[in-house]
Amino acid sequence: MTKKEKIIVFDTTLRDGEQVPGCQLNSKEKVEIAKDLEDLGVDVLEAGFPISSPGDFNSIVEISKNVKKTIICALSRAVVMDIDMANLSLKDAKRKRLHTGIGASDIHIKYKFKSTREKVLEQAVSAVKYARKYFDDIEFYPEDAGRADQDFLSKMVEEVIKAGVTVINIADTTGYNLPDMYGEKIKFLKNNVPNIDKATISVHCHNDLGLATANSIAGLQNGARQVEVTMNGIGERAGNTSLEEVVMALHAHKHLNFRTGINTKKIVPLSKKVSKLMNMPVQRNKAIVGANAFAHSSGIHQDGFLKHRETYEIIDPEVVGVDSSSIDLTARSGRAALSHRLSLLGITLSKIELETLYTKFLEMADKKKLVHDEDLYELVKKKK
Ligand code: KIV
Ligand code: ZN
Repeated sequence: MTKKEKIIVFDTTLRDGEQVPGCQLNSKEKVEIAKDLEDLGVDVLEAGFPISSPGDFNSIVEISKNVKKTIICALSRAVVMDIDMANLSLKDAKRKRLHTGIGASDIHIKYKFKSTREKVLEQAVSAVKYARKYFDDIEFYPEDAGRADQDFLSKMVEEVIKAGVTVINIADTTGYNLPDMYGEKIKFLKNNVPNIDKATISVHCHNDLGLATANSIAGLQNGARQVEVTMNGIGERAGNTSLEEVVMALHAHKHLNFRTGINTKKIVPLSKKVSKLMNMPVQRNKAIVGANAFAHSSGIHQDGFLKHRETYEIIDPEVVGVDSSSIDLTARSGRAALSHRLSLLGITLSKIELETLYTKFLEMADKKKLVHDEDLYELVKKKK
């Protein structure tokens, strides 16, 4: 097998993720999460949008002072004042990146900017040229690239690369694309933009159709080498691509031959911290980090799982920092799960005793939904 290719993980929990109403963090909390993200192994950390508020500006300053190895990135529009602020906010960063851009779809150009393709392109190029006086590392986002005209998008990408951009972010801002469309878009740019080899293509997907992870992976399969993600998929509307989903999909599908620098064992602990600090609960059935991600509740699954874990699990929970899988006792559980739980509690029953207890257990489970260890002790006591 050839050497695995590194996928650059660009985390935007503190910028795109933090835009969610009610999720705002103070500087101290942001620094804490930034240090954890560095520890997790993200390559680039988007710390905020400095022109948006003094609080965001200060958080970027503090993050820059506290994070040592990870590239710290600040967002700007393709506007001189934004770029100046981004540069100021990153003055203490050991490694800094500017993330600048402008709308590329006709709907953005016409309604948001009331402008023309030509003028928007000119603004993009002159912003990048201006930013070059401060930054060697410049990422450019053609906003709403997901719905942009293919030829205009290609032209914009070519021109901003000529002006000095080294990372080009193909933002599916509205989460409109299907995986094959998004994959084709990346492939088209890769094959048709003459200077594309001078930049890394980044995928930035939103989850409006629940396709952010699928689209991001399709982009990687078609030539992108950076993926933009947030912890728990937090982000505006239906959210951004989840860090944990992409990282574990690449981990589970070894044939893709991709690797990331993420220490997967730190995923679930950090997911819990982000959820708590941002006051944003994680749905129970969320892939990888939801409370039910490694919980088995139906009799058939429990029986198979107890015989061999991999019958019903594609990821070992320890790999993402969960101590063990769990077997929930519900009215759908079978005798195998009940007897397994009893044995963990040190209770051994004969076959007939187990049968009697199982009938009682089902009666209780129908009423209670979830049967706990204390309930089992109670049932065993009553039976005696
Ligand atoms: O979704 C988007 O287009 C963005 C850009 C600012 C990169 O978040
Ligand atoms: Zn976004």
